[in-house]
Amino acid sequence: MNTLELAEHGPVIPVIVIQKLEDAVPMAQALVDGGVRVLEITLRTPVALKCMEAIARSVKGAIVGAGTIRTVDDAQAARDAGCQFGVSPGYTSEIGHYCRNIGLPLLPGVATASEVMRANGDGYGFLKFFPASAAGGIPLLKALHGPFADVAFCPTGGISVETAPQYLALPNVKVCGGSWLTPADAVAAKDWARITRLAQEVGQLR
Ligand code: 3PG
Repeated sequence: MNTLELAEHGPVIPVIVIQKLEDAVPMAQALVDGGVRVLEITLRTPVALKCMEAIARSVKGAIVGAGTIRTVDDAQAARDAGCQFGVSPGYTSEIGHYCRNIGLPLLPGVATASEVMRANGDGYGFLKFFPASAAGGIPLLKALHGPFADVAFCPTGGISVETAPQYLALPNVKVCGGSWLTPADAVAAKDWARITRLAQEVGQLR
């Protein structure tokens, strides 16, 4: 898979932190029911890999990816858990080359022109822009479009349902990432219907 295909499934990739394994499948099902199929499950909790496996196995239509890939071991574990893609908060050539070697499509994170040059030089043309709002937001994406008109971005970090349309209107933004589709209080209450409604809402954003 080319990671740009991820953007064809909708305008927002949810960035998901799952604390309890029991929540993984119903949460993913709620998102898929709302039309959001591409799911970034972050490697930030002890149960993350088991959650990825469970979703990949049980939620039809879900396209499961691993977020927070910081090391080659993370990339290998994500691949072994059945993930179809990986997302890293930053970029190293070591991770870029490793993911290519194991066949794990990678959406690598960048925040500066130098990082764009490094990732792009290693063959990556679709990049996560992280942390989007803190690193310069829309003005920085507009500025990067000048020298890097052939590079596409998935801004993530500090984006909301209110600000996403402004990002999505930029020519170099294909999709946005954000955690607002799975609010901690909705998950704690197992309010899956609310998560489905939030997913349905983003379908209208572009
Ligand atoms: C993260 O680091 O958790 C992601 O970038 C999501 O950020 P957000 O919570 O600001 O959407």
